[in-house]
Amino acid sequence: MTDILIHHEGGVATLTFNRLDKKNSITAAMYAALADAVEAATADPDTRVLVIQGHETIFSAGNDIADFLNNPPATADSPVFRFLRAISTCPKPLVAAVCGPAVGIGTTLLFHCDLVYAGDNAAFSMPFVNLGLCPEAASSLLAPKLMGYHRAAEALLLGEPFMAETALEVGFVNRVVPPSEASAVAQSVARKLAAKPMASLVETKRLMKKGQAQQVAALMAEEGESFGRMLREPAAREAFGAFMEKRKPDFSKL
Ligand code: COA
Repeated sequence: MTDILIHHEGGVATLTFNRLDKKNSITAAMYAALADAVEAATADPDTRVLVIQGHETIFSAGNDIADFLNNPPATADSPVFRFLRAISTCPKPLVAAVCGPAVGIGTTLLFHCDLVYAGDNAAFSMPFVNLGLCPEAASSLLAPKLMGYHRAAEALLLGEPFMAETALEVGFVNRVVPPSEASAVAQSVARKLAAKPMASLVETKRLMKKGQAQQVAALMAEEGESFGRMLREPAAREAFGAFMEKRKPDFSKL
């Protein structure tokens, strides 16, 4: 069974994380499939809106840690960076349905979605520091901008999760619904968008994003360089080794 499901219906392309046994953690192959799907949907005149979703119990545990250790993203063309570029520059509306944990890129990818519907069990986290890493997906810019600096510091420096209710309060999600309804709500909003004039949607999104597009691209590239370097450094090795060995990391000497 494929780890990314792609379904097209009524002008809506729906991408679904489908790797429940590993908590929808994302491998390089899955990033490549996602990047291809977003690029194809962008180019396809019959696709008007994209939806990204996981499962009612989990959106995504972020990068697959074992796969990341075996295939660290080495260049700007690595699948993870290709995927981030594809969603951050996608001209068409992106809608997300998020339930359960959304870890790391499971949260940061949402900064690039236009409308986000969360199950009341959603738990967002960006634990990059706890993994010896730094933010990605331009979250070092977009988190403080959206949530305010101090809340972003709680999420990015302390690496503390924030729940659906806080996400709604800070404007990170549009609505909180029962987990069993999140996917249907996202689909209904996507269909509503798909019925609108495409050129107006695309131009409105372009104008709303224009002010920060260059800054996002530049920061994403800088974060990517730091992230790639830090992955090879002792703190990340200790954090990832601890995860694989199911123990607490020891950063006391780092
Ligand atoms: N990479 C690889 N495997 C992962 C994973 C990840 N990011 N997250 C979970 N898994 C695997 C676990 O190793 C476990 O595999 P196993 O059954 O072979 O032992 C399986 O998925 C179930 O995970 P488990 O931790 O038992 O589930 P949980 O419901 O108790 O917790 C999470 C779910 C998402 C809260 C927890 O798995 C977690 O914190 N994962 C790490 C997230 C992370 O640090 N991601 C950032 C990467 S940059």
